[in-house]
Amino acid sequence: MAEAKLEAWLEENRRYAPSPDFSARANAQPGIYELADADPEGWWRQQAERLTWDQTPTKILEWDAPFARWFSDGTLNASVNCVDRHVAAGRGDQVAFHWIADAVGETRTITYAQLLEMVAQAANALQELGVRAGDRVAMYMPMIPEAVVAMLAIVRLGAMHSVVFGGFSADALASRILDSDCHFVITADGAFRRGTASPLKPAVDEALKSCPNVQAVLVVRRTEGEVDWVPGRDHWWHEVVQRQSVQHRPESFPAEQPLFLMYTSGTTAKPKGIFHTTAGYLTQVATTYFYVFDAKPDSDVCWTAADIGWITGHSYIVYGPLINGVTQVMYEGLPDSDGKDRWWRIIEEYGVTMLYTAPTTIRTLMKWGDEYPQSRDLSSLRLLGSVGEPINPEAWMWYREQVGRNNCPIVDTWWQTETGALMISPLPGISVTKPGAGMRALPGIQVAIVDNEGRHLGKGEGGYLTITHPWPSMTRGIYGDPERFFETYWSRFPGSYFAGDGAKYDSDGDIWLLGRVDDVMNVSGHRLSTTEIEHALVGHHAVAEAAVVGASDDLTGQAVVAFVTLKAHSETSDDHAAIIEQLRIHVATQISPIARPRQIILTPELPKTRSGKIMRRLLRDVAEHRSLGDVTTLTDPTVVAMIAGLMEIHASSDD
Ligand code: WT7
Repeated sequence: MAEAKLEAWLEENRRYAPSPDFSARANAQPGIYELADADPEGWWRQQAERLTWDQTPTKILEWDAPFARWFSDGTLNASVNCVDRHVAAGRGDQVAFHWIADAVGETRTITYAQLLEMVAQAANALQELGVRAGDRVAMYMPMIPEAVVAMLAIVRLGAMHSVVFGGFSADALASRILDSDCHFVITADGAFRRGTASPLKPAVDEALKSCPNVQAVLVVRRTEGEVDWVPGRDHWWHEVVQRQSVQHRPESFPAEQPLFLMYTSGTTAKPKGIFHTTAGYLTQVATTYFYVFDAKPDSDVCWTAADIGWITGHSYIVYGPLINGVTQVMYEGLPDSDGKDRWWRIIEEYGVTMLYTAPTTIRTLMKWGDEYPQSRDLSSLRLLGSVGEPINPEAWMWYREQVGRNNCPIVDTWWQTETGALMISPLPGISVTKPGAGMRALPGIQVAIVDNEGRHLGKGEGGYLTITHPWPSMTRGIYGDPERFFETYWSRFPGSYFAGDGAKYDSDGDIWLLGRVDDVMNVSGHRLSTTEIEHALVGHHAVAEAAVVGASDDLTGQAVVAFVTLKAHSETSDDHAAIIEQLRIHVATQISPIARPRQIILTPELPKTRSGKIMRRLLRDVAEHRSLGDVTTLTDPTVVAMIAGLMEIHASSDD
């Protein structure tokens, strides 16, 4: 309770004006919003000049709702924009990546000139293996430089990458490979996590049993672990890539050339292949990186502490920073690989100037204690960013005081896999910030918070977040499913994009993001579908029915709680603890360990409305220990008693 009061107080009272020092040197200068508002398309045309074009576009936006084309008559090459042009401009000796391994002492420094040679070799190798423009290439990789090199090499050829997070199961990998019919896979033998090697290749081998169209697998040697090998199909990176020429002549592609796919969970069981194209995406990631992260290529050492398996890694480790030509830290390990101060040691040692991470990680670091950040010199930091879920004011304050030493603006950035780039965020040097507020849409972006009927709301009101105009980095659709694209995002509020998030304007008219309003959960900044997990549970032989809800959790934001009814034969088994553990493992292997339920509650029945719909709201109340709300629509009064019983079971079994 005291905590809730503190948060309310912070929300009401705290405001941080930008420091004059930061403002004077900020990339974003006053007048920027007015400039963009006066002519949003003109604004984006101007921002597109950040890119190196082979043919400069004359068109800006073509909008045939819900399908947008940006800069469509321009031509360019994405990897040239990330690498070649910096080398051509004489900046080849600048460090692109300080790569830091999980193990202390193992590091690599890669300059832009070296990155260019690596990308050229990889592009030549992929060409030799048969990759052509328009192909889809799946990637299942640890956080090593070759992951970035592979992405850039793929798009250099005009092909698309589809990076699948290394924590996903073989099943999840297979379904993604099949959905977009990838014929190539790039992976590694394994990955290091807190000093232990964990294999990756076996999951690929397993997945490929059901993917007959995959013709080549390129494998980076990382852990030296034993691997099974399919001759003719499998190729070692160090054999095929390293013998290639370090020259590769890039081809020019149309602005709307497909760039990548990123699968994400929606409200149904099937993950969606979110599809992005080249020039609009690159323009907006470059622009937002420049203004929101205040990129200073000659002095910054930036660290987006995310995995390249997520959109944050794509946009703000690979494309945004590289187009801006900054130096980055790329770290393979966990925050506590070799001690709970590992992050702070990295910041001290490399003079990191910008740190971008998720609230769930901030809360974990906070829980470990102030002594860890306090024991290190973090004075190189000048900007902090947060992404992935609403940040609670307490964590925001800790980030500001303990990490930023009250001296760094915090940018709380709202966006999605679908939006491709940042959409709502303070602008450092301009915005007054508030702990937990996204503040306002970025220049060139138009949003509205609306009520159920789509009416625009005003100060002090809350409802649904919509985006009212197309933006350059917006997804061009769900791969292979245009109808689902329309249904999911464009049907609820005709003409506007519905993000699936609740939001409110405070009394100043500033925006606060309130989390998902659909059947999507946000666990540690990872997006999970309740339906997908229910599907996995029901797929288990012992389960009759399952309902999954996201319950609030101090550390992970939300946590997965599942209510499960067992089939009659399993029901009679008295070893419920064993069944519960089996089910948790089942979900972890079917989807990923992130999806593993924090808690599974066995119940003889699920509460349903008269029309047979599971009452999730009620289950969420149970999972969050709230008193029961309106239960008059329940079929059967005995179910009410059952729910009360569930509450008791839940209270006594909580971790
Ligand atoms: C969902 C998108 C964008 C990269 C990471 C997640 C939530 C994201 C914030 C924020 C409040 C946020 C939203 C959104 N979200 N950033 N700063 N404040 N909520 O990408 O997996 O596509 O998930 O994450 O609910 O819809 P994603």
